[in-house]
Amino acid sequence: MDVPEGCYTYLAEGIKNNVSIPIFSSNRINTPELAEQILMAGKADAICMGRALIADPYLPMKAKKGEIQDIMNCVACNQGCFDNVFKMMPVSCLRNARAGNEARMALKPIKEKKKVMIIGAGPAGLEAARIARMRGHEVHLFEKDAKIGGLLNIICIPPGRSEFKKMIENYTYWIHKLGIDLHLQTEVTVDIVKEFRPDVVFVATGSIPTKVPIPGIDRKNVYWANDVFSRDAPIGNNNVIIGGGATGIELAIYLAKYGSLSRKAFEFLTLYKALEPEIALKMLYKGNKKVTVLEQLPKLGSNLGRTTKWVLLDKCDFLGVKFLTSVKVTEIGEDFVSYTDNKGTEQRINDVDMVYYATGVASNDNIAKEIKKVYYATETASNDNIANEIEESEKVEVIRIGDAQKPQTVLEAVERAYKTANKI
Ligand SMILES: Cc1cc2nc3c(=O)[nH]c(=O)nc-3n(C[C@H](O)[C@H](O)[C@H](O)COP(=O)(O)OP(=O)(O)OC[C@H]3O[C@@H](n4cnc5c(N)ncnc54)[C@H](O)[C@@H]3O)c2cc1C
Ligand SMILES: Cc1cc2nc3c(=O)[nH]c(=O)nc-3n(C[C@H](O)[C@H](O)[C@H](O)COP(=O)(O)O)c2cc1C
Ligand code: SF4
Repeated sequence: MDVPEGCYTYLAEGIKNNVSIPIFSSNRINTPELAEQILMAGKADAICMGRALIADPYLPMKAKKGEIQDIMNCVACNQGCFDNVFKMMPVSCLRNARAGNEARMALKPIKEKKKVMIIGAGPAGLEAARIARMRGHEVHLFEKDAKIGGLLNIICIPPGRSEFKKMIENYTYWIHKLGIDLHLQTEVTVDIVKEFRPDVVFVATGSIPTKVPIPGIDRKNVYWANDVFSRDAPIGNNNVIIGGGATGIELAIYLAKYGSLSRKAFEFLTLYKALEPEIALKMLYKGNKKVTVLEQLPKLGSNLGRTTKWVLLDKCDFLGVKFLTSVKVTEIGEDFVSYTDNKGTEQRINDVDMVYYATGVASNDNIAKEIKKVYYATETASNDNIANEIEESEKVEVIRIGDAQKPQTVLEAVERAYKTANKI
């Protein structure tokens, strides 16, 4: 995630300038436009693409035809590819649920055209809408916010994650191209479902944060981690984060870098010698906020992939983030946080301005329960088998996907959305 696009092209150029055989440039060249720029600049004779072709094996063909917007861009998450390799698992892809299962997962022709209602336009709902519509169903996508993307709008904020924005751009294009009926600013209720009379409802309503019952958790200086990314929470000088999983660690980096020099300002100030490069570099990397992360488990980032975890923890180290593991938070006061340390001793962090909790999420699947309870009498019990998880009732199929089914990551959300939308 951290490696910028085309970052190592200078190496190919250096070799090319010293030999007389064709040189290929590789790594993080993930769009035809970037490939073209490198070739036009004479930095290499040809381009290698790895992950870009896992995300979209048809990229070269689409580029040749000029169908650039149709390309499903790799977002450099490493979750389905490199992380799986390190786990000795088959390669998959967060952008391409078919990767590695091309024959088995091909789109199936539909038996009858259905009226499909999708509640929630996060990655799960968006992928289900794309696949159901590509197969020929009538698709209506409902989103309570004014924009699509769900948590994609949040996860592209932490440093090094901006490429998740590409997913929102891609899906915006697919919605228009495929003629998916998009209803923004519409919070779906059971009454709306009843009035709409769909054949199939996908519940893709995401998750809600879980608050641990710590005395003081409802104080006015305590916020959910995501509120910082969505700019709904203030940032203090001395900040405590409860929870050292993926979200807590991403937040720690965000806070520790907060207020640092922008790259543009860095370029300007060093180019015109307003600042010494060494001083400017320090200001570029570090902000001035104090951050302490309290984690109850002995290890940090247990839900992070191997390729990402060491990068993030390394960054935290550099930024001076303080981690305390095997601790139990006992109280949040007006300007302090108390905890029991790994030896069982009561400790206190004083002069705390803000506390953020990143203590996990739970499925937001009430609407699925309500639809079945209020209006539809029968349903098939769900289990882990996708085929059986399509919960059939008298009048409608209700299918929970993404975090609404089980809070995980975009990788699982997209995969399940693809599989279930390919079955209806
Ligand atoms: C800080 C953070 C960082 C993360 N980083 C990563 C990462 O690096 N990689 C990764 O793979 N995953 C990451 N995740 C997890 C990932 O964001 C989720 O797993 C994923 O977004 C789930 O997708 P979803 O579509 O199920 O739900 P969401 O993205 O939550 O979307 C649900 C949508 O449903 C809408 N909605 C809810 N109720 C209704 C209703 N009644 N009517 C209409 N609309 C409704 C919501 O407004 C929302 O737009 C991160 C999560 C967080 C919080
Ligand atoms: C799933 C996967 C497995 C890889 N396995 C190897 C490998 O065994 N040996 C190796 O030298 N490079 C390996 N690579 C690196 C690629 O050969 C290539 O250098 C790199 O992925 C190019 O960068 P890109 O993916 O950004 O285009 C692998 C890459 C991926 C995505
Ligand atoms: S899993 Fe992520 S990094 Fe790997 S190919 Fe797919 S989008 Fe790219």
